[in-house]
Amino acid sequence: MPGNSFGTLLKLTSWGESHGPAVGGVLDGCPAGMELSEIDLQKDLDRRKPGQSKLTTQRKEPDKVKILSGLFEGKTTGTPIAFIIENEDKNSSAYDDIKDKFRPGHADYSYHAKYGIRDHRGGGRSSARETAVRVAAGAIAKKILGDIRIIGFTMQIGDIAVREFNIANIEKNLVRCPDAKAALKMEKLIDETRKAGDSIGGIVEIRAVNVPAGLGEPVYGKLDGDLASALVGINAVKGVEFGDGFGAAFMKGSEHNDEMVIDNGKPSFKTDHSGGIIGGISTGQEIIARIAVKPTPSIIAKQDTININGEEAEITVEGRHDPCICPRVIPVAEAMMALVLADHFLLNKTSRVQ
Ligand SMILES: Cc1cc2nc3c(=O)[nH]c(=O)nc-3n(C[C@H](O)[C@H](O)[C@H](O)COP(=O)(O)O)c2cc1C
Repeated sequence: MPGNSFGTLLKLTSWGESHGPAVGGVLDGCPAGMELSEIDLQKDLDRRKPGQSKLTTQRKEPDKVKILSGLFEGKTTGTPIAFIIENEDKNSSAYDDIKDKFRPGHADYSYHAKYGIRDHRGGGRSSARETAVRVAAGAIAKKILGDIRIIGFTMQIGDIAVREFNIANIEKNLVRCPDAKAALKMEKLIDETRKAGDSIGGIVEIRAVNVPAGLGEPVYGKLDGDLASALVGINAVKGVEFGDGFGAAFMKGSEHNDEMVIDNGKPSFKTDHSGGIIGGISTGQEIIARIAVKPTPSIIAKQDTININGEEAEITVEGRHDPCICPRVIPVAEAMMALVLADHFLLNKTSRVQ
């Protein structure tokens, strides 16, 4: 199965299935001499891991990462960094009843149509268990990025949207929302939806600050193109926009253009409608991306489907599932943005005589 690697100079290859012995990755291209430890990776893995609250899947995985190569005396050596995360809390029997049925909204049918064989346990390779690998690699990319900081947060769950913005609130509530009041309503909505045997979607925003102007490769390999591919490539992400995004379609040039000024002797912009990227290249402003996250496909509510023999059937999906993916997708989206930015940061070193 190709398509398991991404990046140009900083290349991640991931491997593993949901109910196999482990998942892991190899990150190639990390510059030598950078201080790195398992603790750096673990911090973000702990933010993604399952079983964090009643609003996430109850699968209890410690997601303890072990680095196998590419490190010597606490520093990167420039050789591939391989790491492994064991799968400890598998309950494959929960999938026995739906072994031959395709879950609506999940990748069961499309994997079957493509390969004719699939590991049905926990969704196999299509499971979001694989996103732990992205988070571990993303933590290494964040270190390469130094002062560039990436933060993600929930903007909307169902029809409840953020009204007040306070960054300090983000990691203080179960949905990682900057608006404490909205967070309480979101938590209630997710819990009620879960109790009704259903799931719910939302919108997550990811920002990168301190990004220098000049990252991105025209004409193919544009920064927004690569970010869009990396973000939509996350499980359950169905849409992406930068800056005003789809809203730009309703605006005039005089409203959308980011006018330029000199601020403290440096080029600056009055606004950031473009989301920090113009012509596929970073402008030096905040990069602002938003992703649309669909409701979790595995739900207890009864649905129509078919089985592998081509017969119609009914399905209810038991087992442990996230009633809303937003709180756990945030560290994954941050990681994907970090990997793309770090790759472009390294690529940019070849763009002109230094
Ligand atoms: C962090 C995270 C957690 C997820 N948890 C679940 C889950 O518990 N149950 C489920 O059916 N899908 C879950 N998903 C979504 C599926 O992996 C995804 O919908 C499926 O692979 C089909 O791919 P697609 O939605 O991108 O088309 C999760 C996704 C992410 C990113």
